[in-house]
Amino acid sequence: MTKPRILPFHRVVPRLLKDPVTELANMGTEAGGRIVRLHIGPFRPYLISHPDHVQQVLKTDSANFVREGMFWRPIRRVTGRSILGDGEGWSSSRKILQPLFTSRYTASLADDMAQIVAARVAELDGHARSGRPVDGHHEMTTIVNETIVKVLFGGRIPGDVAERLLPELSTCATTISFRLLFPFVPYSVKVPGDRAFLAAAKKIDEIVYSLIEWARKEDTGGNEVISAILRARMRQEGGADLRQVRDDLVSIYAAAAETTAVSLTWLWPLLHDHPEVRATLQEEIDQVVGEGPVLPEHVARLTYLRMVLQELVRLYPPGWIIPRQAVAGTEIGGVAVKAGSQVLVSPFTTHRLAEFWERPLEFDPERWTPGGNERRHRYASIPFGAGPHVCLGQHLFFLKAPLVIANLLSRYRIVLANPQRLTLVPGASVRPKETLMLKLLPAGRTGTA
Ligand code: HEM
Repeated sequence: MTKPRILPFHRVVPRLLKDPVTELANMGTEAGGRIVRLHIGPFRPYLISHPDHVQQVLKTDSANFVREGMFWRPIRRVTGRSILGDGEGWSSSRKILQPLFTSRYTASLADDMAQIVAARVAELDGHARSGRPVDGHHEMTTIVNETIVKVLFGGRIPGDVAERLLPELSTCATTISFRLLFPFVPYSVKVPGDRAFLAAAKKIDEIVYSLIEWARKEDTGGNEVISAILRARMRQEGGADLRQVRDDLVSIYAAAAETTAVSLTWLWPLLHDHPEVRATLQEEIDQVVGEGPVLPEHVARLTYLRMVLQELVRLYPPGWIIPRQAVAGTEIGGVAVKAGSQVLVSPFTTHRLAEFWERPLEFDPERWTPGGNERRHRYASIPFGAGPHVCLGQHLFFLKAPLVIANLLSRYRIVLANPQRLTLVPGASVRPKETLMLKLLPAGRTGTA
């Protein structure tokens, strides 16, 4: 048996308190992808970053590594028993939801999505005229949120629902941090963030149940996700199991909205720091889309934009850790792992291993030139996970994100108004702590803040 590299309490905790995301990645990269055991008080997880080990945990031996403990236990308080769980509840949800996110099904939503995104982006014209900067994260979140709510619930949902859901989900995503990092603290002990988390979860319940009621009465029969879930759950249970429908909807919404919005937020500081990437991207969008409108058929031709997005989720994978718990004792890479141990697969770390990535800290979309990455280990790139739980939303992401970016960049020249060093805040996904202000200039004009 190989011994894992052990990092004792006094070496782990100060680093994790200082900058959890970067330091966790450093601990993995310093070990060159070897397994590291982190002694955080009674909680002693194994940090997994080597692609071979990732493959074992997420794919080949996935039945032995379940979604329990860290992260999963606290988020269950809002997502319930559905696709973000495990076992029976998960597999029945996956069967129902998978067909709703195939590339074909997603493509059938593309026209609607393109219109929603275009209309929402056009609302920013006032800012372009006045020169008043916008809060980048807020805008990305609102655009993404509105699109996802319409995909899930259809175009005719009561007006303010998207706006009401958004702050509650955001509160859940950020107030979960303490429970995420210290999962061994029992729920009977109140920790920072608990009160806000539970209040937001309750509001989400109220909003989503009212939406389900509305959808049942409307009986839209359309191809939006809520109707498909209601139909599927009806057939299975002989009468819709409303709690289950609620869990399905909240889980997909939670998986889809925050991840997409956060990754789009990271794009702007990266483009600011890489004017050459920005120029190539702008040139491609000008050539393919011109003055717009952006159509779904443009997306396949925006090949450089796709490379930028792939590099974006390599460097800043919103799902920065993928925790699992070992059911039975086993070994990973020769290291003995006891039953009940927590293992942390870390895309953020794997994507920074110099053993698998040249110049890993550099933002370089060219590494995704089609045909250029055949020799890379298949599990060295895991922004969307792998194995049976692999992300259902990849097609949606690679349709929606290009629509948002192409709409923004064909309409405006976007300049970061307050460039600065960014701090990574861990939550359900990794976001910058600082507020990023974006200045929108009418297309055709260049400028600096
Ligand atoms: C940048 C965007 C996104 C990233 C980086 C991302 C990442 C991930 C990752 C890493 C997982 C695996 C979790 C695990 O193994 O435990 C996952 C699962 C999932 N994602 Fe995404 N995701 C994104 C967007 C979306 C979107 C737009 C949807 C919309 C449907 C979505 C739906 C899901 C679902 C339902 C699962 C659970 C699948 C299962 O357990 O069977 N994701 N995602």
